[in-house]
Amino acid sequence: MVRRRLVLLPVTAVAVALVPGTALAEEAAAPGASGIGDPYYPLDGNGGYDVDHYDLALRYDPATDELTATATIEAAATQALSSFNLDLQGLTVSAVTVGDDDATWTRDGGELTITPAEPLEGGQEFTTVVTYSGVPQTLPDVSGFLHTDDGAVVAGQPDGADTWFPANDHPLDPATVSVSATVPEGLEAISNGALTGQSTADGWTTWRWEAAEPMATYLVTLAIGEFDVREYEADGIRYWDALDPDLSTPVDGALSAGEIATASFARQPEIVGWLADWLGEYPFETAGGIVDDDPALAFALETQTRPIYSPLFFTDQLSGDVVVVHELAHQWTGDLVRIAGWQHFWLNEGFATYAEWLWLEREGALTAQQTFDELAALPPESPLWEDLPGDPGPALEDLFSAAVYTRGAMTLHALRTAVGDDVFATIVREWVSSRAGEAVTTADFTAHAEAVSGQELDELFQTWLFTPGKPAGLGAAPGA
Ligand code: ARG
Ligand code: ZN
Repeated sequence: MVRRRLVLLPVTAVAVALVPGTALAEEAAAPGASGIGDPYYPLDGNGGYDVDHYDLALRYDPATDELTATATIEAAATQALSSFNLDLQGLTVSAVTVGDDDATWTRDGGELTITPAEPLEGGQEFTTVVTYSGVPQTLPDVSGFLHTDDGAVVAGQPDGADTWFPANDHPLDPATVSVSATVPEGLEAISNGALTGQSTADGWTTWRWEAAEPMATYLVTLAIGEFDVREYEADGIRYWDALDPDLSTPVDGALSAGEIATASFARQPEIVGWLADWLGEYPFETAGGIVDDDPALAFALETQTRPIYSPLFFTDQLSGDVVVVHELAHQWTGDLVRIAGWQHFWLNEGFATYAEWLWLEREGALTAQQTFDELAALPPESPLWEDLPGDPGPALEDLFSAAVYTRGAMTLHALRTAVGDDVFATIVREWVSSRAGEAVTTADFTAHAEAVSGQELDELFQTWLFTPGKPAGLGAAPGA
């Protein structure tokens, strides 16, 4: 998908050789950049091409944790390329072809540099096949590829996709994905989109998943192990839910995580319908959720069409429902409308957190105003005021900080208070509909909010997103 913002592309020297007697100017082939231009993660993604489709044929053996795979990547060059990079961490590459020819490659850290037999022309479509294997590494914050007692689960935000497949690993280059995962017979393999086939031979079962809509690489998921898979259709959307049966081990006197997750998943059609009233029609053909019984995965991730959830959320029904609301809200804000760089991450998390507040209000627990007021009463020393939602910094504890999530949601509530409920509703709905499938920035959002409301909102956004410390005048006692 060609959605790249040109301003983020590295400046490549374009030599124009005008050969006498030739009308054509030829662009000299040059190496593609090793990063797509993200200020926080300069080596994430790559320059010089756009991926259209990843076809991942994977075999995973839980007995050895070994992955054996072939990634077929269809892309188009955006410049003449003498070589180009894919992101890949760990694993061993055994063969690379570009088009019909063998290519050579080198590895350096997370960069796989591929030199095709012939340079690629600007605009040329090309297919790269990478054959690789090894034990995928789990990232230090326990994300990316996690090995579980009976298989594996994947949750790679912001840039862990490259621990299990070679990728242009940045949301600026979304693509469609097909996953065919071969696992020991008796285990399930779940991924994004629709299950299109399943076959067993020689004690191995291959599960084929097809995601029709382009997605950022961090939104590709895979869960292997024992799962109860439930398939159904609601409101024209096909659901696949996968729950680890171990979650249903009885707990004395309380509901098991499996029972709570089952009940939260049963509300997905209702939640999707409720979110659609706020954000517009559900953007994908398929939906569902995955819960593995592995508390090492301590967070949830909005993997496109099929979020993956830590079992730790399903301790009581309200918190189970709320995390499902959060991850489903991301299907619109984060997945359909994606960020152009990780400094804009509050646009994902602020909206998903605000969806939680609205859900708590709908469930009669707390109004959004009450949630805001409780937070506004937190003292200036609270960690909530430490980071800047609009520029939290690349350290993962800052990217995934209360500032980004909670202060991000407070920013939206402050905007709502400033413009009124009706204008706020229009801002949100038109934001999603006008930017569907696009990469966005904070500046895009603030300009949009000003255009829709007709108000000058500079000071509000400057205070909430870019000014350190607790906003002045907040949290005064009611009536004071
Ligand atoms: N975006 C996810 C959510 O808010 C959180 C991901 C946390 N990732 C991590 N590596 N800790 O639902
Ligand atoms: Zn989130």
